[in-house]
Amino acid sequence: MKLTDNTILITGGATGIGFALAGEFIRLGNTVIICGRRENKLAEAKHKLPRLITRVCDVSVRKDREELMDWAFGNFPALNVLVNNAGIQREVRFNKGIYTHNDVAKEIETNLTAPIHLSALFISKLTAQPASAIVNVSSGLAFTPLAITPVYCSTKAALHSFTLSLRYQLSNTATEVYELIPPIVDTELDQGARDKRQLNDRGMKPREFALLAIEALGKGVKEAAIGMAADLRQKREELFNAINRQPVQ
Ligand SMILES: NC(=O)c1ccc[n+]([C@@H]2O[C@H](COP(=O)([O-])OP(=O)(O)OC[C@H]3O[C@@H](n4cnc5c(N)ncnc54)[C@H](OP(=O)(O)O)[C@@H]3O)[C@@H](O)[C@H]2O)c1
Repeated sequence: MKLTDNTILITGGATGIGFALAGEFIRLGNTVIICGRRENKLAEAKHKLPRLITRVCDVSVRKDREELMDWAFGNFPALNVLVNNAGIQREVRFNKGIYTHNDVAKEIETNLTAPIHLSALFISKLTAQPASAIVNVSSGLAFTPLAITPVYCSTKAALHSFTLSLRYQLSNTATEVYELIPPIVDTELDQGARDKRQLNDRGMKPREFALLAIEALGKGVKEAAIGMAADLRQKREELFNAINRQPVQ
């Protein structure tokens, strides 16, 4: 995809990977809009990157997604790139009875339903632009699950599958469909669970990830598996034992 002169909406862009992508896209000469649930995080992001445009939106809520679409194209008719980045990760322990249905439903709605519905809402406007893209942020865990976050991994596997089909369906349109497949990146994502697992390796820095991801997008790599995510994608279940090495608790 072209890397300049786009108008880009990044869901969950106030922190972590989304914020790092936003910063690099701004530096490259793009207009960048971010959304998220926490107004204070959006304000902090804007303070660091004053050119950012921010919008409070909970992508797990259908009405919010519809309002986001109306607001975004109403104010930014040149919007041509949607980055489905917002995501949450929860521990779910079937073996310990740690399962809260509302939390699981929220995880699925945020990680899977939202990118599917936002794609559906945005497609007619995106395909009408001279050049446009949908970029879905999945995970290396789409290919090799981390067993203590089974719902998260399932949503990311499903998002990968959805992205393949969407790319196929839009192949004769002006809209390119990309998938960014991150490795472990040092962000807020489920930091509590990482601490509990005594995961000392905090992973790649978000900016390093963003630079590699944008380089891949610029080269037209449709499925960009970054860092160790490339291994997780290639070797799949072979690496299951390696990443789930703690005894079942
Ligand atoms: N970090 C990793 O190791 C890693 C690895 C593979 C894939 N990923 C994926 O990368 C993406 C970004 O995650 P991250 O690592 O950068 O974590 P992060 O810092 O926690 O970022 C997630 C962002 O999504 C937003 N968000 C969450 N739920 C939302 C909702 N319902 N509506 C709108 N915004 C929402 C959060 O803001 P609010 O809470 O304010 O809404 C936050 O800004 C996620 O899809 C994640 O699954 C991350």
